[in-house]
Amino acid sequence: MAVKFNDEFSSDVSCVQEASHLDCIKAIADDDADMVTLDGGDIYIGGRDYNIKPVVAERYETGDVSYYGVAVVNAASDITFDTLQGKKSCHTGIGKTSGWNIPVGLLIEKEYIQPDEECNVPKAVGEFFVQSCVPGAKTPRYDPNGDNPDNLCELCIGVGDSNCARSQEEPYYDYSGSFRCLAEGAGDVAFVKHTTVLDNTDDNTPPGWGLNASSSDYKLLCVDGTTESDVSNYIGCNLATVPSHGVMTSGDKSNSYVQSVETLLTDAQKMFGSDQNVNGFKMFDSSAYGGTDLLFLDSTQALETLGNRDTYEEYLGKEYLEALRAITCDNGAGLLRGSLALMVLLVLIVLGLK
Ligand SMILES: [Fe+2]
Repeated sequence: MAVKFNDEFSSDVSCVQEASHLDCIKAIADDDADMVTLDGGDIYIGGRDYNIKPVVAERYETGDVSYYGVAVVNAASDITFDTLQGKKSCHTGIGKTSGWNIPVGLLIEKEYIQPDEECNVPKAVGEFFVQSCVPGAKTPRYDPNGDNPDNLCELCIGVGDSNCARSQEEPYYDYSGSFRCLAEGAGDVAFVKHTTVLDNTDDNTPPGWGLNASSSDYKLLCVDGTTESDVSNYIGCNLATVPSHGVMTSGDKSNSYVQSVETLLTDAQKMFGSDQNVNGFKMFDSSAYGGTDLLFLDSTQALETLGNRDTYEEYLGKEYLEALRAITCDNGAGLLRGSLALMVLLVLIVLGLK
């Protein structure tokens, strides 16, 4: 992306590699980097603790800058959202939107999960599900006291230090990994986003999985306790609508800086935004680069400017913000304060616009 952008536009883009999303956020706060794309859960931590602000948002085939968190089970399963207790669960990562904040927030709201007075949510989740893979649950950033239950990582298959890492080191990390955890039979339910089943089944099953998954082998759990056998009917059966992933920068950047980045990205996506692109580089398709969702989510169709939604709070919206504050017990001394995970391999984009 840096090479192509610099070839085509009067930009001076370079990349910085950090070990985790949190390290990328810190690099931005320290002025060692300028931008990173983040999930809403990390936008919350970054905005609250490190003064980052949004630049543009990813737009998906939903037609706007949001997506759906869904719960997926095997088609033959008799599980509903109301009978998840004692089951085995697969999550994208601790503190992430579809995989943790939404399902755990709903389970708390419905009083299936009741955190103790210290608001130890991971402990309560570990007591609710019998076994899980929650990448990051045992890394110090998310487990500062080292007392998160071991069963939160028992389904993970990463070897050695990679086990349960909140990064691609753990094969069951993120949307694709959480679904793989279900598809390979480790878990009974996977918390993912609305496109994840279709992105990873039928002709799209990633190489290296122990099967060729078919989308018809799965169904969705709706929040009202019913199920939906057609996984493409996520509009009628999901857990929540959530703000899309977005590009963040430092809150100290000027309006004119933000605008210049907006212009660069908007111009660039005209040239590189199509997955059919013949110019040799695809901003929104990672398949040629040995992974999924690398620079942006692969389901991104375009990047959208934000107008007045230019603070992290406006970006996340009142509803999701309230869910986040509830799950982090954020009444001044949040549980997850300073406790994001290590080890995600992330590429940060440093932009020095001429
Ligand atoms: Fe996400």
